[in-house]
Amino acid sequence: MLDGHSFLDICSAASAEVKKAVSPLIGTAYGSENIVMGADNTPTERLDKVAEDIILKIFSEKKVCKYILSEEAGLVDIGGDSGIAYLDPIDGSFNAGEGIPFYAVSIALSDGVDVIAGFVMNLANGETFTAVKGEGSKLNGKPIHVSNKSELRSSAMSIYCRTQEMKSMIIEKGIHVRRCRMLGASAIELSYVACGRLDGFLDLRGNLRVTDAAAGILICREAGGIVSLPDGSECVFKDDVKYGSKLLVANPEIHRIVTGLMG
Ligand code: IPD
Ligand code: CA
Repeated sequence: MLDGHSFLDICSAASAEVKKAVSPLIGTAYGSENIVMGADNTPTERLDKVAEDIILKIFSEKKVCKYILSEEAGLVDIGGDSGIAYLDPIDGSFNAGEGIPFYAVSIALSDGVDVIAGFVMNLANGETFTAVKGEGSKLNGKPIHVSNKSELRSSAMSIYCRTQEMKSMIIEKGIHVRRCRMLGASAIELSYVACGRLDGFLDLRGNLRVTDAAAGILICREAGGIVSLPDGSECVFKDDVKYGSKLLVANPEIHRIVTGLMG
């Protein structure tokens, strides 16, 4: 398995190729056409497949690790000696298909125990969030940190929930935030928590997969964020694109307040 820095270099080169290849497909019916059923049981759009094929090819040539677990292709042995990469080739496929400029490549590398590096590139504007375990997080190469907002009522959070959860978990539990967002690409939203643009990310749906979240979680942790289930207990993802979880990621004070209300 490659070290974290070599992994990030390859992610960067591969994502530049993906950006070029998908750009004519963005905002087109052809790009968003469903072409097969993905391993995660949701349809794979043409732009997902184009992006995934490029990354699988480059990661196989460079023998980055032993396996890739990808949202569309599932578990693929790419011939390295150890480790697993979690790939969402396009996080925010709907946004990409509709021409909403908020969609990303998200890739994390694990040694089988811990995620050791994370990479998220917003393909619409090229912003790149990275982290290597123990070394902090960066946006376009510059160190980033979570916000220091300490009042829930003045905070901005991404909150994903269904109507019933909005009533029973958000309104009734008193999760009153100043600005509530649901931007459609969790990997970027987690990265926005890492750099302080958002104060937290709360997903109550229970269908966030390891491929959506692994990179963004490391980027948040390394930027000083706290990660758990909404009630404060440990969040453990499975190496399975059909397994979904809830998630809370926030700066330490907002995390303390939300888990206090949710627990
Ligand atoms: C979206 C992404 C996003 C998640 C949204 C999904 P799409 O799916 O997976 O991260 O938070 O709820 O709708 O647009 O990639 O099919
Ligand atoms: Ca996707």
